[in-house]
Amino acid sequence: MNSKTRSSPIGLFDSGVGGLSIYLHLAQQLPNEHYVYYADTLNVPYGNRDSADIEALTLNALEWLYQQGCKLIVIACNSASAYALETARRHYPQLPIVGLVPALKPAVAASKSSRVAVLATKATLNGTLLNDVINNFAKPNNTVVTKYFDPRLVPWVEAGMPEQDETAFSLRQQLQLFANEGIDQLVLGCTHYPFFKAFLLNEIASQQLSMQVVDSGQAIAERVRQLLATNQLSALTKNESNSSGDAEDLDTNLRLPLVFYATKYNDKLGALITRLLGKDAVLQYYAN
Ligand code: DGL
Repeated sequence: MNSKTRSSPIGLFDSGVGGLSIYLHLAQQLPNEHYVYYADTLNVPYGNRDSADIEALTLNALEWLYQQGCKLIVIACNSASAYALETARRHYPQLPIVGLVPALKPAVAASKSSRVAVLATKATLNGTLLNDVINNFAKPNNTVVTKYFDPRLVPWVEAGMPEQDETAFSLRQQLQLFANEGIDQLVLGCTHYPFFKAFLLNEIASQQLSMQVVDSGQAIAERVRQLLATNQLSALTKNESNSSGDAEDLDTNLRLPLVFYATKYNDKLGALITRLLGKDAVLQYYAN
């Protein structure tokens, strides 16, 4: 029923706009692919929902992406991956599904102080995916992991990250507290958070702190590239599909339209997406 070919799209799912931070890496590394994005903006945030709720909403989103004929799906949400990745893989055994887990391993490897902080939702912080990495990797490497959750962060990103907001103020203060604990690596364990990475790096520089900020985007794009290659599902480049050789150079990112489906759509969301993706992004919206 779902016959996948090289030209089938890659599906991405998040509770809201956060997964676009993963899409940006994918579009950069795999510019010949088509992408379909499902944002459950009606139900965002997921982070403080219970596990059964997160699992049901995720399976619903994945079924929609599956019906679009996706050849691979990225659950571009750490919270959804924490509670639905295993079930989703059982549900669609033929479909490669990539999940997200906070990039704690590289942070542990890079930490000089053996102290790292993971910023994520309550769901992700309590989930087994992250706690397995803490127990099997951070602890054996004598690294202390501080878990940090602020329920305002995802809504702040969904609201376009106004700098005068008290969430921005708390984040600034929190950086100082992390520094006081000797933390030298901050792991952005929620796909919404890379959108304020520049804000964090700016603050780190102006407070003269010695801290690095790590996220999973690059590694996920690499994983997707490998999986597509292994399954012989990588999109052909224009040169491959057009043997005349006069193909347009596809190096310019984000040229293929991103099909964006939101369970709740309004103009404010449209403006935010354009802001997050940059003005060259080409989008096609599907509203509910
Ligand atoms: N982007 C989602 C994540 O990575 C946000 C979760 C939420 O909606 O609270 O966890």
